Amino acid sequence: MTRPAAAGYLRRVTVLGIETSCDETAAAVVADGEVRSNVIASQIEVHRRWGGVVPELASRNHLVQLLPVVDEALRQAGVALSGIDGIAVTAGPGLAGALLVGVQAAKGLAWSAGLPLVAVHHLAGHLHAIRLTAEAPAPPFVGLVVSGGHTSLYRVDAPAGRTRYDLLGATLDDAAGEAFDKAAKLLGLPYPGGVEIERIAEGGDPAAHRFPRALAGKGIDFSFSGLKTALRLHVQRAGRPEGRALADLCASYQEAIVDVLAQKAIAACARERIGRLVLCGGVAANRRLRAEATARGREAGIATFVPPPVLCTDNGAMIAAAGTLAFQAGERAGLDLAADPAMRL
Ligand code: KG4
Ligand code: ZN
Repeated sequence: MTRPAAAGYLRRVTVLGIETSCDETAAAVVADGEVRSNVIASQIEVHRRWGGVVPELASRNHLVQLLPVVDEALRQAGVALSGIDGIAVTAGPGLAGALLVGVQAAKGLAWSAGLPLVAVHHLAGHLHAIRLTAEAPAPPFVGLVVSGGHTSLYRVDAPAGRTRYDLLGATLDDAAGEAFDKAAKLLGLPYPGGVEIERIAEGGDPAAHRFPRALAGKGIDFSFSGLKTALRLHVQRAGRPEGRALADLCASYQEAIVDVLAQKAIAACARERIGRLVLCGGVAANRRLRAEATARGREAGIATFVPPPVLCTDNGAMIAAAGTLAFQAGERAGLDLAADPAMRL
């Protein structure tokens, strides 16, 4: 990836980022705002037969994978640990046992190499992934974080170089990624559901079924549990579809999620009078969401920014990017740093 022109405040430090909050074991080196390596050992195959992430299996696999992944990230970046300026690790939120593996490893590496350590909030990582791209927007911007565990709208400011996050709206029940994953399970499709539903929806008609748009036009909170119930009732009534009927159902279901996400994100920008929208988190890898938010943003005079898919789903580079900002703001974590599954932003 090329060095971003506008990301001056990500410069002059080389950071090792470590991410183990869920089912991806990830490490990356970001130097001077440039991604030098971004290694991800996915556990998808481990969890697939269970139809979702099994926390204990995630922790055990992080234990096995993490040090080889860190070694590979350093090797690909062409640096030794002695060439790193600091280590950034996801301290929360996420699965307790999974987070613990990353945090303990990061503390061990920091202590043994005499390096400073910072704790990164997983969603700060998602929100700052865009900084690793050439078109990084300057704050303030509105960030829509859409992942397996979160669907939230933040206003991101940087007064006097310190990043500030104001929560504007969030889901009242399921996250958008969860809505994709649960629908996939119901339809007998493999985990992770978002990718699978997007693939099948490609050949379908998004107007074939009219799924509910909860809270449409009402504030900027979200709700996806009714949508999931509507799909379950449909399958109970009509059976599990196949072929063209399955494609139509997936396309219509995806459209209901995308419609609400795009509408609320634009509404949040309008309310805050901010002309820059950033999409991030695993669901931001969805092509339909990227296209719809961009098109509706354009109509409303809002520029939409989305990182490439590899920086949308969980990765170490986004943790290093957020960690770089934290280092430059003078933050430091001690060797008493603990994983915090319910960490607040
Ligand atoms: O950010 P992420 O990798 O992990 C969490 O922090 O949760 O997001 C994972 C979520 C899963 O629910 C997955 O189904 C969804 O992102 N996802 C997608 C796509 N790729 C991943 N959803 C819709 N379309 C996609 N292409
Ligand atoms: Zn995530």
